[in-house]
Amino acid sequence: MEIIYHGHACLSILLNDGTKLLVDPYFTDNPLAKRQASEISADYILATHGHTDHIADLIPIAKKEKATVIAIAELATWVSQQKIKAHGMNIGGSFQFPFGEVKMVFAQHSSSFTKGEEIIYLGEAAGFILQADGKTLYLAGDTAYFSDMALLKNDFSIDVAFLPIGDNYTMGLTDATKCAEAIGAKQVIPIHYNTFPAIQQDPEAFVALLKEGQGKVLAVEESLFL
Ligand code: NI
Ligand code: MN
Repeated sequence: MEIIYHGHACLSILLNDGTKLLVDPYFTDNPLAKRQASEISADYILATHGHTDHIADLIPIAKKEKATVIAIAELATWVSQQKIKAHGMNIGGSFQFPFGEVKMVFAQHSSSFTKGEEIIYLGEAAGFILQADGKTLYLAGDTAYFSDMALLKNDFSIDVAFLPIGDNYTMGLTDATKCAEAIGAKQVIPIHYNTFPAIQQDPEAFVALLKEGQGKVLAVEESLFL
């Protein structure tokens, strides 16, 4: 598989069978983005939660691509109300998709969408364990560090974990380092940093806190091949 980091928490995961997955689409108004939503293709879109910096381009890309959105039940319902195909899941549940298996796992965060004066409730924030092409990825989503993360390593041998390090809204460097150790990921890629003033971090300083060779910083639009 090829994984492309689009900046913030947005990734494309291109599988060997040609299936294109997109995670937390955020191109429009993303100060880090180098591409536009209109250029992005996807068969499935995995959305960790409803905050704008994770679903800003979800509806337009899903519409254009006739993609299926995979998200927690409430977010999936909101998406399907907009005539988009959605597959609702909930925390602790796994599902075998044609491209591989997805387990929705816990994240400690909130989830809502602000529309004018209204704040729409969109369920809980979540993370995903994705097993495809013989690899296991942990897409942590926005989350605090919590001790139950350590349980993931009982069930999964995580090849690559994508962990938020920006602090303020999510784990910062110290907590993301604790998470990396707890889950026993072979490789850790920092995400969700340097997009806004409140989440300025040095990703190389994070890598320096990890085990030798464990961390890797991806530049925006850089690919990781597994
Ligand atoms: Ni968030
Ligand atoms: Mn976020």
